[in-house]
Amino acid sequence: MKLKYSNLILNIIIILVALSCKNSTNTNDTQKVQTSQVIKTSFGLLSDGQISSLYTLTNKNGMKVSITDYGGIIVSVLVPDKNGIMADVVLGYDSVGLYEKNNPYFGAIIGRYGNRIAKGKFSIDGKSYQLATNNAPNHLHGGSKGYDKKMWNVTAIEGEEPSLVMTYLSKDMEEGYPGNVENKVSYTLTNENAIKIDFEAMTDKATIVNMCNHSYFNLNGGKSDILNHSLQIFADKYCAVDETLIPIVGLADVTNTPFDFRSIKNIGADIDKDDTQLKNGLGYDHCWVLPQNASSGIILAAILQDSLSGRTMRVETTEPGIQFYSGNFLDGTIVGKYGVKYHKRSGLCLETQHFPDSPNRPDYPGTLLQPGEKYLSTTTYTFGLIQ
Ligand code: BGC
Repeated sequence: MKLKYSNLILNIIIILVALSCKNSTNTNDTQKVQTSQVIKTSFGLLSDGQISSLYTLTNKNGMKVSITDYGGIIVSVLVPDKNGIMADVVLGYDSVGLYEKNNPYFGAIIGRYGNRIAKGKFSIDGKSYQLATNNAPNHLHGGSKGYDKKMWNVTAIEGEEPSLVMTYLSKDMEEGYPGNVENKVSYTLTNENAIKIDFEAMTDKATIVNMCNHSYFNLNGGKSDILNHSLQIFADKYCAVDETLIPIVGLADVTNTPFDFRSIKNIGADIDKDDTQLKNGLGYDHCWVLPQNASSGIILAAILQDSLSGRTMRVETTEPGIQFYSGNFLDGTIVGKYGVKYHKRSGLCLETQHFPDSPNRPDYPGTLLQPGEKYLSTTTYTFGLIQ
């Protein structure tokens, strides 16, 4: 009996020790999850055999953003809806090969020059340059092989707020642009559920730079198109364009036009109105002029909302313009992540940048970068819920 009793005590001690060990392992695991805010996995092979990686950043709220070294592409953004259910709010693919085959710039870093340059021509100090006219008759988003199709070097930084620092050296005359340009793009996932993007560039010859991120957003995770999202753009003017989407002379007033988003408005409300500008863009594909100048710093440019999911996104930027592109050229031929077909207006872009064709427009804020100067641009996309 005495032996049985002492066996029982021994067993209890063993169980208690085992339990305490289990708890301490759990604690370690939890700590590991909390500090491992950047996880690197394989994202497949490129056609030239290079290995691409996917970096998943997690913040303390559990928001996750995955970015690949190919094109600096934001591949997925997981944020909660009004019921706390996470969904992916950007369009894209599951592997790098598909991005390489056919990417209408989903999630990518755009450069050297985002948006169009008329006929691909510009000049600096009397010297003319001819760029690829990859969006005939104009140059678009850096040319045939812009920054969106390059491998970027990545340094992952863990800490309170995880970040990736991506660098890419664009050689003199790459895609026809002068100067060796050292580019640095830092993505930070903040604990305010913002993706903060800092762009930097330095050159050794005068050149032009206009970078942005080209994510296509759909705040309900693709349950429906973006026509039921509502949008507010804090701008009184926009760049009206010709049929090739090059700005015409002067800036257009948004008053009494489908381009007035000064009060929050359903995107579908006016998109099919009989309007020359909407016809030229096949919908919205225009740059709005923000009340921004060199000393205003970062300002609120736009707010996007989806009442179905309750999700919101605020766009803040140091840039003077925001291109709102309503996904007009998506046509159902692309099958993206989760096997979803991307139809016209499955997603929308809010690209913060200088105005289209700025190198040929002395009336616009300049995009020239001289040796010794630093190109700096910051944009944040902050996710939240309708209050
Ligand atoms: C442009 C569109 C273009 C699209 C390509 C946007 O930034 O404004 O005109 O078709 O990029 O995905």
